[in-house]
Amino acid sequence: MMIITIDGPAGSGKGTLARRLAEDLGFYHLDTGLLYRSVAYTALHQGVDLTDEDALVALAADMPLTQLNKTLLAGEGIGRAASDVAKMPRVRVALLDVQRRTAHRPPGGKPGCVLDGRDTGTIICPDAPVKFFLTADLQERARRRCDELTAAGDAADFETILSMLRQRDEQDAGRAVAPLRCAADAHTLDTTHLTVEEILFFAKTIARDTMTLQRLDVCEGAA
Ligand code: C5P
Repeated sequence: MMIITIDGPAGSGKGTLARRLAEDLGFYHLDTGLLYRSVAYTALHQGVDLTDEDALVALAADMPLTQLNKTLLAGEGIGRAASDVAKMPRVRVALLDVQRRTAHRPPGGKPGCVLDGRDTGTIICPDAPVKFFLTADLQERARRRCDELTAAGDAADFETILSMLRQRDEQDAGRAVAPLRCAADAHTLDTTHLTVEEILFFAKTIARDTMTLQRLDVCEGAA
């Protein structure tokens, strides 16, 4: 079982990289941010207060992976609400097991899993053999988010998105539990001036080299 983790702030390119890498390698892609977005979205729609940790834990404990609807959950408002929900230690605990289980036993019998989020390399899968941490300038990340939202047919004002991303980054990196951090053994990449294909090339080269080395290790052990 091969596990690849990709962490970084919003708009750093981790979601696109995770999706493309999973497609190319035939792995399952788990977008862990969707879990937090889904809890926040459900809470808002059921009139649950976003500070009511007990109620949010109950929603999180009951969150089926199959019902994660990316299009519905994509907005920056939901991103902000997800960040509020993600600060709560017991909500994170309630979502831990499903993430670890999915990483180690991906649906569809896939031979590996690519996870992207904020704590996938530090907390969810600290033993993952391949970890990436992506960054990019705030301005560039805001521009990418605006492009994504516009492409999805949503209104996106650059200055508003910039300020929302800044606040979300501060909250995600400054919280007490599982803050956004680069794992000590992660490969870091600043994607500000890179194309998707360049980022994919970098990641795929490292992932393939690691898989080859793992296979050689197994063969040596068996000899
Ligand atoms: O990645 P995305 O922007 O969809 O994540 C939404 C929010 O969910 C993040 O701002 C963060 O607060 C939270 N999150 C988290 N841990 C993860 C993934 C997302 O705390 N592994």
